[in-house]
Amino acid sequence: MTLIDSHAHIYTKEFKEDIHDVIERSREAGVERIYMPNIDHESIEDMMELAEKYSGYCIPMMGLHPCSVGKDFEKQLYEVEELVAKEKFCAIGEMGTDLYWDKTFFEQQKEAFKIQSELALKHDLPIVIHCRESIDETIELVKPFADRGLKGVFHCFTGSVEQAELIIGMNFQLGLGGVTTFKNGGMEPVIKKVSLEHIMLETDSPYLAPIPNRGKRNEPVYVKLVAKKIAEVLDKEVEEIGEITSRNSKNLFKYP
Ligand code: NI
Repeated sequence: MTLIDSHAHIYTKEFKEDIHDVIERSREAGVERIYMPNIDHESIEDMMELAEKYSGYCIPMMGLHPCSVGKDFEKQLYEVEELVAKEKFCAIGEMGTDLYWDKTFFEQQKEAFKIQSELALKHDLPIVIHCRESIDETIELVKPFADRGLKGVFHCFTGSVEQAELIIGMNFQLGLGGVTTFKNGGMEPVIKKVSLEHIMLETDSPYLAPIPNRGKRNEPVYVKLVAKKIAEVLDKEVEEIGEITSRNSKNLFKYP
């Protein structure tokens, strides 16, 4: 059984006590790699430490999360640019837009999105997109960059079949996680409609744990529950889901 967790924040305080066990459990379940999106300036050191400790297994990205885009976003982006020029990352992320928590900095979020997309093109990296209550706005932002060859994934996708098709039409991937297993998640029509070649699995640990662990701390081993749910919906073997989605993650992310 091969699986990849394409999105996990396992460097956060929620994992300080037992990160070693978390990694062991995930290896035992067949999770081959864990890709780690950055959040902001505060998270860089802890993420890089983990990337070094579990080199080749926990693979870092670099970017600025939309919920951390504030008055100082340009300063934060300078640091991102500097690091991307200096170190090896598999993607720019996570970046994007979020109209759920706070709309105050939407203009700045859009500006940060464009700057990071240019950076990704410059370094030939894909982007990892967070969007909440803003899928249509984000599709509009991506479009001109996708036309220029930018690739990436809409992480934690929870949109409609129509939105999924627009995203795939731009040659972007859909990241499916815990919400896929929720009864009210609404993801079954998307899973049935979209080709598996466009789907990547993720947990978004420590958030959004899949059923039956909803509400608890999420961790990479639970990516198996997402694969199982997709297998059920499509009436396929879970191994096949793991294999195809892992290949998709490896193809998208740059890592030697
Ligand atoms: Ni995330």
